[in-house]
Amino acid sequence: MKKFFLILISVIVLAVVGIITYVSTALPNVGEPENITIDVTPQMLERGKYLAETVSGCIDCHSKRDFSKWAGPIKSESKGGGGELFSEDMGLPGNIYSKNLTPFALGDWTDGEIYRAITSGVSKDGHALFPIMPYHSYGKVEKKDIFAIIAYLRTLEPNKNTPPKTELNIPMNLIVNTIPQKAEHSLKDNYDDKVKHGEYLTTIAACADCHTPMEKGEYIEGMKFAGGMEFKFPNGDINRTANLTPDKKTGIGNFSEEQFVSKFKSYADSNYVIRDLDAGEVNTMMPWLVYRNMKEDDLKAIYSYLMTLKPVKNEIKLFEKKKES
Ligand code: HEC
Ligand code: HEC
Repeated sequence: MKKFFLILISVIVLAVVGIITYVSTALPNVGEPENITIDVTPQMLERGKYLAETVSGCIDCHSKRDFSKWAGPIKSESKGGGGELFSEDMGLPGNIYSKNLTPFALGDWTDGEIYRAITSGVSKDGHALFPIMPYHSYGKVEKKDIFAIIAYLRTLEPNKNTPPKTELNIPMNLIVNTIPQKAEHSLKDNYDDKVKHGEYLTTIAACADCHTPMEKGEYIEGMKFAGGMEFKFPNGDINRTANLTPDKKTGIGNFSEEQFVSKFKSYADSNYVIRDLDAGEVNTMMPWLVYRNMKEDDLKAIYSYLMTLKPVKNEIKLFEKKKES
């Protein structure tokens, strides 16, 4: 009997060691970087700029942000240089720093290496990226848009910042290796079909990455766009994402197209200035200062797409002050 247990335990230990070795050495397995040469045109740079600065928010996340001000504008000296911290205090499994996207850091990366990082979540040295970087969404969109973004990144002013290394806690430091995926580019941007165009834009903007509630690090089935993902600010205040499904009571079903667009555009008004928070005001994680520059037609297309979603009843308290104890 004793011998049987000894054998059983050895088998289990071997299996566990085997799995850990596999996950930590053989994964992530998304293949070598492709051999790509991007032929840059002026139209492409313009498109890349619009996507990287506005729709996809690359530069926003890859700069340090000032959350003492409303909606966390970027600190201009940090533009593109990375170093924004997504921390354990915010409820994440480790301390994750965004990286420098300017030629200072990516200058010696090939186009294929940058493309693989953006769309599959694997860095130049082969390590897996934590999916706060929305690579699953970017892997769905058209290759030519990713190429346009890469072309634009090459034109950024070099920023000499070297962000700290990301440190993930056990077991996320192993699990992260199972998350990268080969890009499928399953979506086509179709300007003639407003709804399809809107779906494409919500994907390349990764709206659902924030507007879907999570439980134990996984998106909850059937709740895409139903809101409720929670962000905790360092001062303890809480902000939750809104329900973007067309439910009339708890979602945006009562917004007209015009109301929807003007919610974004009101911050683009030239009278609007970056402002301090009012006393007692809870800050917002919604990148209003980024999306306010989206083209009106693009915002209208997003609205049309959201209105085709199945309404989900999900009441959300968007802003919550830290409870005084
Ligand atoms: C929500 C925030 C966020 C957005 C939006 C975002 N990123 Fe990232 N990105 C990150 C974080 C955080 C990391 C580092 C992840 C890690 O260390 O595991 C990262 C890593 C990367 C890397 C790998 C760099 C390296 O040195 O390994 C590249 C390249 C990159 N992002 C490019 C982009 C581009 C291009 C876009 C827009 C299309 C973008 N990111 C949008 C947060 C973001
Ligand atoms: C970084 C996370 C994040 C991303 C990305 C994001 N949102 Fe939000 N959004 C929020 C949060 C948090 C709120 C609630 C706070 C607020 O209204 O300011 C919100 C609120 C909103 C509201 C207001 C709804 C209401 O009932 O007042 C709209 C509309 C909206 N988001 C649309 C979008 C769209 C469209 C996208 C993609 C283009 C998007 N969001 C991407 C975090 C995000």
